[in-house]
Amino acid sequence: MSERDPGFSTRAVGGWTQMPEVRQHPASPPLYQTATFIFDDIDDFASVAQTKISGGYLYSRWANPTVDMLGRVISSLEGSEATACFGSGMGAIAGTLLSLLSNGDHMVAAAQLYGGTHGLFGTAFKRAGISVTTADVGDHAAIEAAFSERTKVLYCETIGNPTMNVADLDALASIARAHDATFVTDSTFAPPVMVRPLEHGADLVCHSATKYLGGHADVTGAWCRVTPRGSRPSDTSRSIPEARWRRSTRGLSRAASKRSFFASIASVRARSRWRARWRSTPPCSA
Ligand SMILES: Cc1ncc(COP(=O)(O)O)c(C=O)c1O
Repeated sequence: MSERDPGFSTRAVGGWTQMPEVRQHPASPPLYQTATFIFDDIDDFASVAQTKISGGYLYSRWANPTVDMLGRVISSLEGSEATACFGSGMGAIAGTLLSLLSNGDHMVAAAQLYGGTHGLFGTAFKRAGISVTTADVGDHAAIEAAFSERTKVLYCETIGNPTMNVADLDALASIARAHDATFVTDSTFAPPVMVRPLEHGADLVCHSATKYLGGHADVTGAWCRVTPRGSRPSDTSRSIPEARWRRSTRGLSRAASKRSFFASIASVRARSRWRARWRSTPPCSA
């Protein structure tokens, strides 16, 4: 054994670092379940450490290949320039808004929001000195009147949870633009196959992946997508034309949305009853 060959213990813990060369693309993306990455030498480390994200992978909180793959898929579905992935919807909402708002800033928000989001605004945001005024998402005069000189963000849900109000994204985007505010929408209830809010003037779109994007109640996660200001497609180049958007919202009549909402709650309850039964079943003793 040469002086540089690793000893028995080193081989025992690090033998797997000899990654196989894989010329073929795997059919499913590999999971990079690692916090850190190993470097050939200190120069290699230094060059990646300098940029943290764009130059390679160093630490998975900054960037991770599996998470990047997910982000690229979401960007292509949503037509966004970039996507940041988070561990939960609330993580995405808090992270996104706190990157836009500081102590003393003001936000106008739709009154019809997920309860957890209202909770975030009323507790952590309040403590951080960020004030929020809410107004009926369909009352554009009230939304406009809620703006002040300190308003930095207009926030809504594309389809509100649980009221199912459908926000007129184009109209809200024009109000935000007139006040030089960033328009953020939580599109959890309207995945990109239904509507892509960036094409309707939103600057940033958040999703809780736990709902339609995950689809099977087996994942928590979220992302926020961005399109740079000034690069929004013109009205004529929308991929969901006005008529289709109206058709899709027409489908969500109050009665129909209520029915589907309560049906989804019923199925969640049925699943948790099933899980409770499954957990209380003694292990199989074959
Ligand atoms: C519209 C909406 N936004 C955000 C969230 C929060 O997402 P998560 O539970 O992934 O934190 C939810 C959760 O129900 C939601 O319905």
